Amino acid sequence: MKIMEIEGNRELHGTIRISGAKNATVALIPAAILTDEEVTICNVPEITDTDALCDILNELNVDVKRASESIIINPQNMKNVEIAERYSKKLRASYYFMGALLGKYKKAVMYFPGGCSIGARPIDLHLKGFEALGATVTNKKNKYIVEAEELHGANIYLDIASVGATINIMLAAVKAKGTTIIDNAAKEPEIVNVATFLNNMGAKISGAGTSTIKIEGVEVLHKCFHEVIPDRIEAGTYIIIGALCGKNLKIDNIIPEHIDSLLSKLEEIGVDLEIGKDYVLVSKGENYKPTNIKTLVYPGFPTDLQQPFSVLLTQCNGKSKVTETIWENRFMHVPYLKDLGADITVKNQTATIIGPTELTASSVVATDLRAGAAMVAAGLLATGKTVITNVEHILRGYESIIEKLTNVGAKIDIKEI
Ligand code: UD1
Repeated sequence: MKIMEIEGNRELHGTIRISGAKNATVALIPAAILTDEEVTICNVPEITDTDALCDILNELNVDVKRASESIIINPQNMKNVEIAERYSKKLRASYYFMGALLGKYKKAVMYFPGGCSIGARPIDLHLKGFEALGATVTNKKNKYIVEAEELHGANIYLDIASVGATINIMLAAVKAKGTTIIDNAAKEPEIVNVATFLNNMGAKISGAGTSTIKIEGVEVLHKCFHEVIPDRIEAGTYIIIGALCGKNLKIDNIIPEHIDSLLSKLEEIGVDLEIGKDYVLVSKGENYKPTNIKTLVYPGFPTDLQQPFSVLLTQCNGKSKVTETIWENRFMHVPYLKDLGADITVKNQTATIIGPTELTASSVVATDLRAGAAMVAAGLLATGKTVITNVEHILRGYESIIEKLTNVGAKIDIKEI
């Protein structure tokens, strides 16, 4: 088991370079199998979610080479075999192999995906989308067999603007006969990144980034070179850390428009920010004002930044509220923040935070990926040594987190116990 130790209450200065987006990478890797030719993806983060998807590629007899920030995927000798549950349960995004295998072979056999326990996380919208394209879905316990004689275009309205369902339907529809329209599609930048990748391979997708995506089926996809966009959630996490303990902390290699909702909230509470073309310079301010946030689909406030942001709200003068509308189980960080000294009460899907409160080190748990990021942010601020367990969650999504924070003056380490 790995633990993280943080000696908090230190000023952070210097530059943190943001890596490629986890949530784009985890869709791009499965998408790459839609061709029989070699695909190169660069700016790929070295996180354990990437490793888990490469393990699945190996199972499918796909040739994978990794070189620093690039990954070269060659599916020439690929075999469409059942993906064992031990692979699918390692991460949520294993479900993108359903759409990709269905799109390529018209058959996918795999198990219910894993991932953070932040809610029930059903996949009904993915499956309904596959069915609309002509597939049948057989489900025994955790196992799903999705197959079709032929995939054809369809008009699909998503009841919820789901990121996963939007991408999975795109993957299944890209080689289907005819035109598919996804209405009430999710608009996240990662979806645009995946659509761009598929278009570079020869797909005909338009409208990604809007709520209507049109996919005209093509017969063949070919090799391409593609770059992963910067990780807006990693960027947002470090900017929040900068607002807690930074002194001219530069968060570099980002696309600031992707985090507009966060940046405007930070400005509202009084954080000292300089927003450049591809960076943000942030320093800890005085007398932060309280505020309310509500998580929403993009371009609203991202649920994935709600937990780290709640740490910042413990430092605001007065009462703030956080309302979570996407996941029903995303306040698991709260008991640990309270152990550190925060004043938080949760009722239904709203947390009320009264600040400012001093945070003092304690032993805490990373209950999920972004709860773990919240623990890191709190540990960096707290006085004394904070010990975080279950840090495997954090390593799923934050590349080189120890090195990045150490380089800007943090005292943080990871140990195997
Ligand atoms: C993705 C992100 C995750 C982020 C979330 C919301 C990845 C790998 N993960 O997750 O970090 O927190 O978007 O921004 O990209 N839903 C259904 N049925 C479905 C699918 C979804 O009811 O078939 C519901 C979910 O329970 C949830 C909401 O729709 O309440 C949004 O989920 P979705 O956008 O699909 O999230 P993920 O793609 O799993």
